[in-house]
Amino acid sequence: MAGRGFPPGFAFGAATSAYQVEGAVHADGRGESIWDRFSHTPGRVQGGHTGDVACDHYHRYEEDVALMAGLGISAYRFSVAWPRVMPTGTGPVNPAGLGFYDRLVDQLLGHGIAPHVTLYHWDLPQALEDAGGWPVRTTADAFAEYVTVVAERLGDRVAHMATLNEPHVVSDLGYRLGLHAPGRAEPDAALAAAHHLLVGHGLAVEAIRAAAPRTPVGIVLNIELKHPASVHVLDQEAATVAHDQVNRWYLDPVTGRGYPEDGARAWGWRREEVPDGDMELIATPIDFLGVNYYFRDLVRSPLLPPVEGEHTPRERTGMGWEVYPAGLTEALEFAASRTGDLPLYVTENGAAYPLDESDPTRDPERVSFLSRHLDAALAALDRGVPLRGYFVWSLLDNFEWAHGYTQRFGIVHVDFETLERRVRDSARLWASVARTGPVQPSEAP
Ligand code: FCB
Repeated sequence: MAGRGFPPGFAFGAATSAYQVEGAVHADGRGESIWDRFSHTPGRVQGGHTGDVACDHYHRYEEDVALMAGLGISAYRFSVAWPRVMPTGTGPVNPAGLGFYDRLVDQLLGHGIAPHVTLYHWDLPQALEDAGGWPVRTTADAFAEYVTVVAERLGDRVAHMATLNEPHVVSDLGYRLGLHAPGRAEPDAALAAAHHLLVGHGLAVEAIRAAAPRTPVGIVLNIELKHPASVHVLDQEAATVAHDQVNRWYLDPVTGRGYPEDGARAWGWRREEVPDGDMELIATPIDFLGVNYYFRDLVRSPLLPPVEGEHTPRERTGMGWEVYPAGLTEALEFAASRTGDLPLYVTENGAAYPLDESDPTRDPERVSFLSRHLDAALAALDRGVPLRGYFVWSLLDNFEWAHGYTQRFGIVHVDFETLERRVRDSARLWASVARTGPVQPSEAP
């Protein structure tokens, strides 16, 4: 890594999302979200955990902003909770809810931290789910209405606005597999949800441009690398189809290429039902793309016998995800193959590891994980990828969706009894990279 560096102005940030950190679910007129309903439904979330309190970031944001400033973190990616701003999804705006984000943005700017806003990080107002959720088109219209309100209020002060976080996960875990809120296992609804999320994205891009013309607008997609489990041609085919269904399904339409053929066949997608004009709307030009990268999958064809030794341990995180740093370079190159000169951000990358009970601030595995992924980001820059920033997931240990508080991703440890924050070694690594550029893993604290 010696001699290589991140370009001047490169944003070193930390990311969170509203439901995962804010808590304060009944404060100041916030409405119910699908994650409130889901987490309070017995059996849905590990340990019966909920986001009711989470990190209480809603009340402690000043402390959290000061913590980031102390570390030298130059950018904060957070999401706005739709049910705080519009408690029932459409109609009357809740000034107190919107006011929270107004204060958060001012606090960040006051500390020299660039606010990077995500408008939808999975906390749909429950009232909209009751009316059909993302599988119905009116949800996309409601999204644009909400986005207009937020863009009018915050647009002129934020570094960028992303419409959606990981629409694939919303569709797949929320509506196809039922493992995330709203917990529906309905394959047709999942396909409709994916399409309406993308329509909502297109409408939101237009809404932001109208309300805040100078604000860069984009979307955040997760790239799950799909590699064949062997060189067998059937594994290669299976991996290609999986890549179409997960990665290209979103990136291709957003960049004007439409839905990929093989993926459409595999999903059973009836493209003739797409209303005229939708694909153009989805392809409304954007100003940046956010890439979330965590792991790769080795794809085995269902027509072949299971791979010998498939379960021999490769290096994995607490989530069971393979540690595969080269995949970050590859994911960014794949994204850039579609987006060309458009600025790219790593909007999420990080890892959960079991807590060191004797000293929860020690996290050598996370330090090693991040060091190697930083190197992979540099490799992407070397290959000409226009990478402009990198956000670690996550600033804080938080509510990890269906895993509750059992998976800790924070560079800052949170004691969920006392809510005390303690800086981990990985946060010190991030701070030193943000201040002076990359360090060798061996030099890491
Ligand atoms: C991503 C989500 C984020 C977090 C990480 C671990 O898929 O966007 O909220 O849960 O995974």
